[in-house]
Amino acid sequence: MAASPAPVAPVRSLDDWIDENVELLQPDRVVWIDGSRAQLDALLHEMVEEGRIIRLNPEHRPYSFLARSDPDDVARVEARTFICSEQEHDAGPTNNWREPEAMRAELRGLFAGAMRGRTMYVLPFSMGPVGGALSRYGVQLTDSAYVVASMSIMTRVGDAVLDRIRAGARWVPALHSVGAPLEPGQEDVAWPSNPVKYICHFPETREIISFGSAYGGNAILAKKSFALRIASVMARDEGWLAEHMLLLRVTDPRGRRFHIAAAFPSACGKTNFAMLRSALPGWEVETLGDDITWLAPGSDGRLRAINPEAGFFGVAPGTGRDTNPTAVDTLWGNTIFTNVALRPDGDVWWEGLTATAPEGLIDWRGEPWDAASGRPAAHPNSRFTVAASQCPSIAADWDDPNGVPIDAIIFGGRRAGNVPLVVEARDWEHGVFLGATIASERTAAAEGTLGELRRDPFAMLPFCGYNMADYFGHWLEVGTRLRRTGGVPAVYQVNWFRKGADGRWLWPGFGENGRVLAWIVERIAGEAPASDTPVGKVPAVGTIDYRAAGVSDADWEELFRIDEAALLAEADDTDAFLDRFGDRLPEAIRRQLAGLRERLGER
Ligand code: GDP
Ligand code: PGA
Ligand code: MN
Repeated sequence: MAASPAPVAPVRSLDDWIDENVELLQPDRVVWIDGSRAQLDALLHEMVEEGRIIRLNPEHRPYSFLARSDPDDVARVEARTFICSEQEHDAGPTNNWREPEAMRAELRGLFAGAMRGRTMYVLPFSMGPVGGALSRYGVQLTDSAYVVASMSIMTRVGDAVLDRIRAGARWVPALHSVGAPLEPGQEDVAWPSNPVKYICHFPETREIISFGSAYGGNAILAKKSFALRIASVMARDEGWLAEHMLLLRVTDPRGRRFHIAAAFPSACGKTNFAMLRSALPGWEVETLGDDITWLAPGSDGRLRAINPEAGFFGVAPGTGRDTNPTAVDTLWGNTIFTNVALRPDGDVWWEGLTATAPEGLIDWRGEPWDAASGRPAAHPNSRFTVAASQCPSIAADWDDPNGVPIDAIIFGGRRAGNVPLVVEARDWEHGVFLGATIASERTAAAEGTLGELRRDPFAMLPFCGYNMADYFGHWLEVGTRLRRTGGVPAVYQVNWFRKGADGRWLWPGFGENGRVLAWIVERIAGEAPASDTPVGKVPAVGTIDYRAAGVSDADWEELFRIDEAALLAEADDTDAFLDRFGDRLPEAIRRQLAGLRERLGER
């Protein structure tokens, strides 16, 4: 079904918007962020002086800081995230919805006086290189210096953006407060926040309002709130795609270059895959982006992609020399760490950085860590914030405003069973079906029960700013358009997390994923054989040297085992999931499910 066109919001005056909010929030002062290193330095210094962050030992980690959050403000709060469209059905069954005027009224109450005793920072930011055709602008108001510092790393901020906005460019207002006003004489805490949290999006007027949290995805509004939730609505209306995807370039031993975008749910391996060091000699991977990709059909008839961000907000635990050496090398300095452990020598540590924990750690809560406690020293969702330019594998042209042409799209997830290591979609429509029906085990990136299997279509469940059924339809339409110009990318599904009966991961992952990537590239080049299965095409016997990856014949077989009964049970579950969308679901998705059942031998 075609999306109803959104009413276009009038371009609001920046100064009026700020004045209104100063009056409502009553900050002590207003500070404009100009994007200079000197201003950021001064701000970080002030935060250290005030005890909000800890400066790490510059001998080990120059110009780096540790922030410890409130223990109740450590992850995205999906239950408190709302799409406030005019009509509830436009938010769809997978989003929380609130009527926009009622939501605004409630927020006005919460925001009244919310910045008393604090500074309001005005932060103009650009997603994508300033002036790029695909780039979009926003302005965030916030009372959190931590958010200002994080946004300054994650996006392009300051005067260059402000000039564009002053010259009439459209921009998205993003209002944020930690919701912890200070009364005269009241002592502040290191990480102010509020037990009441609201992360609200107004798709028709393209506005974001966030209250009560300073944690990344809830507060760094350029990222999930703008570049995914609001941008997905812009993309629907303007004919492009805003996706929860990493972006990489892979060069084969013959020097041919391929560009791949891959959607995995939060904490399912995007950053690691974007920084892959292939176990296969002669294959080079360059990083273009690690979390968000904007894709648009280009004048050349192909899908072109940019990374709208300028930094990485990565998961620390599990990042070590043996898993992601590129990330470890990226983090040598100029990094803000959040909720990792502190070493006695003033450096940081987290589970997986080294095989054994150093002595004398202070845990993420700021208390001496007892290894015997069974509790991790770093929070499972502890993070690093670092500029993309600092990554040794970053492509020289990573911020080219024209982007790169996409050869393949990959969908992934964390699945102990049923999903093979790699599958090639039969065509775009089948690829959209694979994306639409992704299920993945829950991680620490958001509040919820760890390990629980949930549907996460296109890894966008928490990030799609409109009705997910319309979103499936939009993907199908983009494919139809690309087919006319011969620019349809191939589509794959991967699963690094399949387990054996004994609960062990069957595939070593990380650098060995380079073997799977090589097969994908050889398929695109028309050079690798595949075998047909009911779920799609898989590598033909002998095309991936799994023994060299240390995988036994039995485990390899298990990685691709088709369990008809289990897959049919999953098809029933898919049916129930799709029922939620009613008649808004595109016909093609049901057709694909019927095709799968047929191929699985169901009559
Ligand atoms: P992102 O949030 O999607 O960017 O995910 P990350 O790349 O940060 O990875 C999240 C977690 O999954 C980390 O603990 C990684 O060590 C782990 N991980 C990433 N890739 C693999 C893999 O190929 N195999 C296994 N077993 N774990 C992985
Ligand atoms: P991620 O994003 O969980 O997708 O890595 C970070 C966040 O928004 O919390
Ligand atoms: Mn990541």
